Amino acid sequence: MINIPKGTKDVLPKDAYKWHFIEDAARGTAELFNMKEIRTPVFEHTELFLRGVGDTTDIVNKEMYTFKDKGDRSITLKPEGTAGAARSFIENGMGAGLLPVKMYYIIPAFRYERPQAGRLREFHQFGVEVYGAAGPDADAEVIFAAAHFLNKLGIKNVKLNINSIGCKECRARYNAALKDYLRPHLAEMCSTCRERFEKNPLRILDCKEEKCKLVTAGAPKMIDYLCGECKEHFEKVQQLLTAGGLEYTIDPNIVRGLDYYTKTVFEFVSENIGAQGTVCGGGRYDGLIEELGGSHVPAVGFAAGMERLILLMENTGVQFPEECGPDVFLAGMDEESRTAAFGIACKLRSEGISAECDHMGRSLKAQFKYADKIGARHVVALGGNELESGECNVKRMSDGSTEPVKIDGLCAYFKGKK
Ligand code: HAM
Repeated sequence: MINIPKGTKDVLPKDAYKWHFIEDAARGTAELFNMKEIRTPVFEHTELFLRGVGDTTDIVNKEMYTFKDKGDRSITLKPEGTAGAARSFIENGMGAGLLPVKMYYIIPAFRYERPQAGRLREFHQFGVEVYGAAGPDADAEVIFAAAHFLNKLGIKNVKLNINSIGCKECRARYNAALKDYLRPHLAEMCSTCRERFEKNPLRILDCKEEKCKLVTAGAPKMIDYLCGECKEHFEKVQQLLTAGGLEYTIDPNIVRGLDYYTKTVFEFVSENIGAQGTVCGGGRYDGLIEELGGSHVPAVGFAAGMERLILLMENTGVQFPEECGPDVFLAGMDEESRTAAFGIACKLRSEGISAECDHMGRSLKAQFKYADKIGARHVVALGGNELESGECNVKRMSDGSTEPVKIDGLCAYFKGKK
């Protein structure tokens, strides 16, 4: 037998309704915030992620699914959605149109990580990106969109953490201060952090190793190094969150695992799904479009991990509304009435009424049982008498009541029930 690759999951037909619920909530949220869908390829040129996500990040250094295609091009399965959306924004000249451009996506993403609860090698994201708006109101709107989405799913126990990692200028000043602080402790830290020290010291704050956490606990905070503009921007974001009634905590240790962020960064975190508690993360990234060869276009967005959301909902007892069974099951007593049932089912479906009939040669009694199991809302049993008289009984499964209906009138009858 060939097994599923490690770190991936099948969504079985019996569980697909959970995904439909989350996808509907995502699309509904995007619509409310006037965001249009963007679909980009599942793979891109590797260079996009080297330049976009950043060559000092774990994603680029350790986790990408990269391969040479038959034309000897280096191709990578997308590890996230922002870089592809930004590439498309530039390539399609969207910056020359009406701004802001507000878009969303629901995508599979691929990262070669060590699988554990809530951490997969193929996972799915609902993401949102807003291009062209530099002001703090865009940051706040994106955060509210994420909060609305989580709320729509019925998720309550999540905490919103925010931080600002400033612009290039404040980052340079902060990096210098951070390095001054860390330098005497280098020998106490893990080898990865020692490497990060020169290339990207900010990432050291995100290290999960106890010995590094001990060192960084006393490190200077980015938030104390913000320039006037970044400070004002961050304060305004907070005012807007408060104005909209969203509670938040400032967490000076959020740095995020991708290099493109500037100013506001945020995460929605849960304590109910183990170590991988971040269900949604995002922030502003004002330099990415330029970095990828476009003009200066400010941007802000987020992505939520759909598997983590399902895990969180399951772990906290949030109900997924189950999808309904067919409107009607057409049972047949004998060969002739089974054929008639098949024909009626075809007709009903062409009129938008979901219909099912037996394909397993079940007895009439077993067909009723089956209809009940699949959640059919009505059952019609057809036999010689019904075919002769042109009239049948429609049984309503919720209360067992029956109603005589002309076979020719079944379409109109069920349409009236919709
Ligand atoms: P990210 O924090 O790398 O950000 O991922 C966003 C979310 O994807 C995480 O909060 C988590 O829920 C989910 N996720 C990440 N890795 C995995 C995994 N291995 N298994 C399961 N779920 C995972 C981004 O990807 C940015 N592109 C977000 C963004 C959009 N920033 C601005 N715009």
